[in-house]
Amino acid sequence: MKKIYVAPSILSADFAKLGEEAKRIEAAGADEIHVDIMDGHFVPNLTIGPKAVAAINRSTDIFLDVHLMMYNPYDYVERFIEVGADRITFHYEATENVEEILAYIRKCGKQAGLSFNPETSFEVVPKYLDKCDLILFMSVHPGFGGQKFIPSVLEKIKHTRENCTQRKLVFGGTQSRGKAGETPFLIQVDGGINFETGKAAVDAGANCLVSGNFLYSQPDMAEAIEQFKSLGG
Ligand code: DX5
Ligand code: ZN
Repeated sequence: MKKIYVAPSILSADFAKLGEEAKRIEAAGADEIHVDIMDGHFVPNLTIGPKAVAAINRSTDIFLDVHLMMYNPYDYVERFIEVGADRITFHYEATENVEEILAYIRKCGKQAGLSFNPETSFEVVPKYLDKCDLILFMSVHPGFGGQKFIPSVLEKIKHTRENCTQRKLVFGGTQSRGKAGETPFLIQVDGGINFETGKAAVDAGANCLVSGNFLYSQPDMAEAIEQFKSLGG
């Protein structure tokens, strides 16, 4: 049985009551909350900033997974850590200083994640595996919730999982807040995840599923999260 981490995306929540929505995600048994930060440049959309993340953090004790879809991610690392981020994931395509930023996030005592757009080759991934805590494969073009899963991501997940296994990276274990280096390695997939695409991603080797629109369309969030977790066998 593989441990599957479930990260509901707050992008699909009601922004008029972010605090309550965060509590609801926590009560439903999620492992972490996925918070999408968009800058209107790297992606053609805008979402929330540090102040709203602080409000989410005040409302819950759940692990905060901050996904930066923005240029100049380095400039915002400290701000998001100050307001409660436990992990900061930024995009490979958004900066030329990938290794420096990963090292900086870890130096701040937080988990460092690196994200790859659908068109970016998996061949660039292996060199970062020992330098981060999470690889995020986008299975849609970043910017909006509710898009259709792009199946070519599965091959990238498979190659990366094999590479992780060769390096003896540890999968599984309990996610805890703010302890970089003591946490399990995650291969996260984000975009168009439902039970069918989630299963395909898990079978390919992913162990962390982000879900927005689909999860929020389910009658019972707790049951849906349980069902995602059961994809691990
Ligand atoms: C898309 C975001 C996703 C989004 C996923 O750019 O990064 O986290 O919220 O939403 P769904 O599950 O609706 O594709
Ligand atoms: Zn995201």
